[in-house]
Amino acid sequence: MKVLIVGSGGREHAIAWSVAKSPKVEKIYCAPGNAGIAEFAECVNIGAMEFEKLAAFAKEHEVDFTIVGMDDPLVGGIVDVFEAEGLRVFGPRKNAAILEGSKGFSKDLMKKYHIPTADYETFTDADAALAYLETAKMPIVLKADGLALGKGVLICQTLEEAKEGVKEIMQDKKFGTAGNTMVVEEFMTGREVSVLSFVDGKTIRTMASAQDHKRAGDGDTGLNTGGMGTFSPSPFYTKEVEAFCQAHIFQATVDAMREEGREFKGIIFFGLMLTEEGPKVLEYNARFGDPETQVVLPRMKTDIIEVMEACVDGTLDQIQLEFEENAAVCVVLASDGYPLAYEKGLPITGLDEFKKHEGYYCFHAGTKFNEKGELVTNGGRVLGVTAKGADLKEARANAYRATEWVNFANKYMRHDIGKAIDEA
Ligand code: AMP
Ligand code: GLY
Repeated sequence: MKVLIVGSGGREHAIAWSVAKSPKVEKIYCAPGNAGIAEFAECVNIGAMEFEKLAAFAKEHEVDFTIVGMDDPLVGGIVDVFEAEGLRVFGPRKNAAILEGSKGFSKDLMKKYHIPTADYETFTDADAALAYLETAKMPIVLKADGLALGKGVLICQTLEEAKEGVKEIMQDKKFGTAGNTMVVEEFMTGREVSVLSFVDGKTIRTMASAQDHKRAGDGDTGLNTGGMGTFSPSPFYTKEVEAFCQAHIFQATVDAMREEGREFKGIIFFGLMLTEEGPKVLEYNARFGDPETQVVLPRMKTDIIEVMEACVDGTLDQIQLEFEENAAVCVVLASDGYPLAYEKGLPITGLDEFKKHEGYYCFHAGTKFNEKGELVTNGGRVLGVTAKGADLKEARANAYRATEWVNFANKYMRHDIGKAIDEA
């Protein structure tokens, strides 16, 4: 079959790599793709938000199956456009992608269906939010309701910071219309775990757990980023935690969406906080995580196309997911200065080394070929250097060794990805 993947980051590279392993697949297109994806997919110069053009391309090239990797097109309704054209597509419709698209919606859903999450209030009026904050307990968390490139969450230590946050989100509209509504949430402490799952509307199958590192600097310092590295599995996601989540969170979310007439098909990414009171939902995403995917999919033994087709067809109950009994670590190589200002267009060397070693992967996030045909940096996050190992410690040592193979002038990385596993 012919597959089209929509997206252009490290996550889409990992998805494309996984799809390419399926014996069912003869041709992969990726729109818009990147230099790494181009190795086994034909990259098509159509933007992820150009739904009509993408659907026309899929029809013209007789694409059998489209996979949407990114949140923006899903929340914008790309799946509805494809379905209206009679195309097979993997991902939630617009009315279900709201699970990620509106934090207010997801919080209200959790409250209504008793799914454990932090206490919260929702505001559409800045003055009401300010009045509420006067008596609220600090620290406190402010969240812009809509999509904000993962940046619409402010953790405020003091009342002054919280007031400044309300100004940024609701009055200055730092995150655009995403801040028309704002969620004010209780601050939680604990370990964070990411659990990704396949959902067919009724049945849910969870993948191996992972943990992301969102801050730019070692020791979780510095600014929030899209993610600086991941490991899988999380040693903190024990059998007991898993059993609790299965009883109170995973199926409950799928059932709640169905009950609301918003049947969810695709990926639900559960961002969990393991608090002293038990696991609670931090956030939902309606797509694979980036860079969680880079450590989860290399460990998956099941054919990804078989699972995704089962999601679309509503037959996921007939599939059991299988993962390798090992571990994987991904260290993001970024451009120094990310997430603020950084230089692009710098030549990258050393990637041939990955072809010589089994269990090592270099997923491209921000790369391209320049006019001379050289591979150059083209973004803040450049590459996701991933390695497997028998256990987390071995995987971490392998991943860091592989980071040394790669060079570009302003290469920057965290040196403590997976360090938490030493405390497990
Ligand atoms: P989100 O986009 O909702 O995942 O938030 C981004 C990050 O902010 C999370 O990964 C957490 O590290 C942090 N965060 C979000 N909500 C809370 C909360 N209620 N308490 C503590 N930290 C939070
Ligand atoms: N790694 C977090 C995310 O994809 O949202």
